Amino acid sequence: MSVKYKEKHRLQFHFSPEEKWMNDPNGMVFFNDEYHLFYQYHPHGTTWGPMHWGHAVSRDLIHWEELPIALYPDEHGAIFSGSAVVDWNNTSGFFDEGPGLVAIYTSADNYPDSDRPRQRQSLAYSNDNGRTWVTYEGNPVLSDVNITDYRDPKVFWHSETNKWVMVLATCQTVTIYTSPNLKDWKFASEFGQKAGSHDGVWECPDLFKLPVDGDENNQKWVMLLSIGDNPQLKEGSRTQYFIGDFDGTTFINDNSDETVLWLDHGRDNYAGVSWSDVQDGRRIYIGWMSNWRYANQVPTEGWRSSMTLPRELSLTSSEEGVRLVQKPVGEINSIRKGTEVYKDQVIAETNMSYNVRDLTEVTVEFEKENATSFGLFIENSEGEKTVVRYDTQKELLFVDRTHSGDNSFSESFAAVQEAPLKMKNNRLKLQIFIDTSSIEVFANDGEVAVTSLIFPSKVSEHLTLFSIEGNTNVTQLKITDLVSIWNK
Ligand code: FRU
Repeated sequence: MSVKYKEKHRLQFHFSPEEKWMNDPNGMVFFNDEYHLFYQYHPHGTTWGPMHWGHAVSRDLIHWEELPIALYPDEHGAIFSGSAVVDWNNTSGFFDEGPGLVAIYTSADNYPDSDRPRQRQSLAYSNDNGRTWVTYEGNPVLSDVNITDYRDPKVFWHSETNKWVMVLATCQTVTIYTSPNLKDWKFASEFGQKAGSHDGVWECPDLFKLPVDGDENNQKWVMLLSIGDNPQLKEGSRTQYFIGDFDGTTFINDNSDETVLWLDHGRDNYAGVSWSDVQDGRRIYIGWMSNWRYANQVPTEGWRSSMTLPRELSLTSSEEGVRLVQKPVGEINSIRKGTEVYKDQVIAETNMSYNVRDLTEVTVEFEKENATSFGLFIENSEGEKTVVRYDTQKELLFVDRTHSGDNSFSESFAAVQEAPLKMKNNRLKLQIFIDTSSIEVFANDGEVAVTSLIFPSKVSEHLTLFSIEGNTNVTQLKITDLVSIWNK
């Protein structure tokens, strides 16, 4: 292993490119036993710049091999976000033999003799498992002179209507197009004029179907939608989702226009979409673990940004309606090492502390007694700590990073993140992944996720359980050491 990946704050079990700037995950597709991850990449700097598609592959979604850059800016402009699919039936005519990969992305330049941005959709194809790409001579394949924000195509095959479907972010809506061959696109419908949050520009849509409560006879469609940073609000950029139905043409939202569903209640999960063509039926998602509010300023040197853990998405019905649930993919098991288990402990005024290593998974189940709040914090020898606390009266889960380490690079960074969450049978389950500069909290089996960067000056050494104004039972605490994915 090179000295790279050992730098201060470098994440040890999340994907980040060896060097330079990265943002959105792009073109995720599973083909010939490999998960492909492309990403918005600027190879000449550690801040956002002319976009390329970087490329990495993995067989288990956890260990990644970085490959050469897949797509470079060309005569149509920089390569913005988009998707990739397996063209199984050669509908595009790009392949002489067997299926191949087609990438659908946004070409971003300016209108001639103007500084007005122009965004159009283009294609590239690969018949060598994504190792090399040819840009289509007929590019761009889709444009609209009236809309400036016109980007991030996510394409999938809709078998019921035998067509390709594209969802595209179009300023404050998602426009849906269909195509028989990936080259010729026809307007189908527009969604979202009034629905959900319009706090920022709409970006990076995704649309897919999932069974509700595992029942294949009851399927719902999920639309993911990222919304850009709004300087008036404290949260920065974040991702919402809609639940509804889709007939190949139109998406109908199940909820009222006013309902806003957040995919993640932390600050650092943005622009995420799902893998195409996963053969085992899972819907797997990954997000960019940062926030446009401060992404260009985070205190890392030589490299910037990483992805979240890959997560499996599912739908569950609740009193409020159908909701999205996310859990880290089972493959995470490959980096688990030793586990210590503690059972049936009561926490009162005295905190209980445990040693932890730098890379740790904590699973804990709290049972409510009479405390007003309870939780845990991780702390290093400098006293820098990140607190996860549940307020039993307000029914809110908090992840407080105000004292987690370096906050100095952005006024927005020192934040207390919160998520509404109800206990189940008086119990709260947390699964927490702590990497060198991130903490991902999954509550009640993935009902709520809070993803957050932290920049402690030293690695965590202790985990402390606490209970405020009364007792709390901890029915089980499990501390698992994780190993770096970069130790070859
Ligand atoms: C989202 C985004 C996309 C765009 C890309 C540019 O983070 O703004 O809408 O395609 O980043 O890098």
